[in-house]
Amino acid sequence: MNTSDSAMERLCRVDDGGTSILQQDRANDEAPALTTRLLTLQVNGRAHAVATRDNALLLDVLRDQLGLPGTKQGCDGGECGACTVLVDGAPRLACITLAASVQDRTIETIEGLAEGGRMSRLQQAFHENLGAQCGYCTPGMVMAAEALLRREPHPDEAQIREALAGNLCRCTGYVKIIESVQAAAGDMS
Ligand code: FES
Ligand code: FES
Repeated sequence: MNTSDSAMERLCRVDDGGTSILQQDRANDEAPALTTRLLTLQVNGRAHAVATRDNALLLDVLRDQLGLPGTKQGCDGGECGACTVLVDGAPRLACITLAASVQDRTIETIEGLAEGGRMSRLQQAFHENLGAQCGYCTPGMVMAAEALLRREPHPDEAQIREALAGNLCRCTGYVKIIESVQAAAGDMS
């Protein structure tokens, strides 16, 4: 490659959580030359083949390509937790996760929690204990709480607060959310 070329290409490495993506980016302010790839995403127990650009975010793929709008877009910058999904059982912020980085991993969204068309015990607990008001934060809250309850079936309040520390709610004041998680755990007095 001729390094004096004004359109000299440079290679930049993007962290994609294990593998690396090589993007060709032109040095003269031209748009990055991103490629499209075919991914297989395992979402809520189903394999989905989806064509995405290398820099596609998991949040956008879930909502716009797979038709799963339950995962919410809040801050879009890793600050609010509204986009929380589970990847291999652990909470993950879909707004800052490259879709390519979770290929063939187990992805769960709020749509996958219902059991036989009925709300899960945790979802029911949020409903019954007023853990949701406007509901915008709720999918992310529920997914973060779901991960907690799987690893710690009877968390104390401090553990619940810690597990939900990355999820913001502007409606509830958090008390009802904590009570909902406690109720789901069967720990309400
Ligand atoms: S939308 Fe992802 S953290 Fe706020
Ligand atoms: S219920 Fe409205 S932001 Fe949490």
